[in-house]
This record gives sequence, structure tokens and C-alpha cells, in this order.
Amino acid sequence: MDRFSRYVNELFEWNEQMKQFLESEEVGQNSELWEQLDDFTELIEGTDRQLSNEELLSLQAKAEHIHEHMENYFKRKQEVGTIWVVEKTLQPGEHSLPELPYPYNALEPFISEEIMKLHHDIHHRSYVDGLNKAELNLKKARETNDFSLIKHWSRELAFHGSGHYLHTIFWNNMSPNGGGTPQGLLKDEIKHYFGSFAAFKQHFSEAAKQVEGVGWALLVWSPRARHLEVLQSERHMLLTQWDTIPLLVLDVWEHAFYLQYKNKRAEYVDNWWNLVNWHNVESRFEKAADKKWSTV
Ligand SMILES: [Fe+2]
Repeated sequence: MDRFSRYVNELFEWNEQMKQFLESEEVGQNSELWEQLDDFTELIEGTDRQLSNEELLSLQAKAEHIHEHMENYFKRKQEVGTIWVVEKTLQPGEHSLPELPYPYNALEPFISEEIMKLHHDIHHRSYVDGLNKAELNLKKARETNDFSLIKHWSRELAFHGSGHYLHTIFWNNMSPNGGGTPQGLLKDEIKHYFGSFAAFKQHFSEAAKQVEGVGWALLVWSPRARHLEVLQSERHMLLTQWDTIPLLVLDVWEHAFYLQYKNKRAEYVDNWWNLVNWHNVESRFEKAADKKWSTV
């Protein structure tokens, strides 16, 4: 086999591997990537393996173009890790306790080993277990169409879900080599919105010190306002799961239906489904689904 034929064969194999990769990543058949790979297969199969230099160069350019396209696609898809990481989707009840990213005593003297052991192994684990339990019970409710405990399990879902997600962020927000000030885009954005790092730090510290009862201080990004914000959360939630993105919402405050439906909220909810703009929900979902943090 001459050098050219070998090269064409290699391209063919590479193309097949890319297809397998798209399958493993569950890239939809309607994606442009599939079309490009299929066209490329046809092109290779159509060559008589006696290519001129020019034809070979054009084939190579096409391969490079597809490669670049795929790389961009997966870069956009994945915020963490390399493009070769296969993202796992969690089924109900599949959450697991993430390892601490450092030893228990690594944050001393600021946070003791004893606290970290208790906090991570006991408290965080109980959120993971509680979240799994709530998800499984809600799955069961859907299967049996018995929603009599929906309020209880929604509350559990929010409490333990926020507990698990926020602690996972919290562990990674800290490092034995931490401290100092942020750099890059975040530095610019903090200065832009809060005026200075010192002003932000003061705001965040006061929010944390003055949370009523137990809870959290959070620096968040608002995709709507397109700026940072500091929030307080009492406990973990008020029935919310922090670290999630709303896609479809239904206002059941009385002002939303009382004039027309009086106290018949159920009738309003049933009728409301006639109004859902799924195009809007789909587009929110497509943008939101691009955000993927690590599952553990
Ligand atoms: Fe905690």
C-alpha cells in the first residue's frame, strides 16, 4: 500500500471513530456534525485511491475543518475536562457523595480537620441520601399517579438538593492555597458591578454574617441582568434547588387567577397547559443544557 492510500485509509478510520464518539456523546442525528462526517465518508469512499497531490490536500483540508468544528462543538458543550470526557446523566436516586478535593486537614488552621470530617462525611452525605430518596419517591409518585405527598417530597427535594449542590460548590470554592483576589474576567466584572474588590468583599461578608438563622451567602451570575449579585439564602432554600435553571414556570399567586377563577386554582392550572409556549421552553432548555458541571 502506498503512502497516499495509507493516508486515505487512516482518514477513513478516523472518520469512523468520530462517528462512534458522536454516538457515545449522544449527539443528535440532526446535528450538522453528522452530516459533515457522512459527506466525508462518501467523499473517501468515492476516491479511487490514486489521488493527485491537489486532491489529497483538499481532502486533508476538509478533515481539518471537520476536526475543528467538532472541537468547537464539544468545547461549547463542556465547561470542564477535555472534549474526550463522556458526560454522565444522572437517573433518579443516582447522586453520590463527591470526594473532598483535598485532605480533611488541608484547610487548617482556618477550618479544623474535625469540622471537615463531620461536615463532609456526615452532613453532606445525609443531603445526598435525602436527595436520592426524594427523587426516587417522586419517581414512584409519577409511576403510581399518587401525588398525595407531593408537598413533602418537593420540600425534601429542595432541601437536600440545595444541600448537596451547594456543598459540592463550597468544597471546590476553597483550597489550601486559596486567598488573594480573583483575576481575569471575574476580576473585571467584580470591579464593574461592585466598584471594587473591597466593596464586594464587604457586601458578601455582611450578607454572610447577617443571614437570619442558618444559611448561605452566595455570589451568583444573573444571565438576565447580565451582572453578578450577592444573595442570602435562609437554610438552603425556600423550596428551591440552587444550581438549577428554571425552564418552565407557572405563577399560582392569587393575583394570577383569582379575578377569573376565584378559589379554583386547580382549574386554572389545568387550563394553563393550553397556553404553554413550548418553542420558548425548548429554546431556554437548549441554552441551559449547555451548562454542565461535573456530576460528582
Ligand atoms: Fe454545611
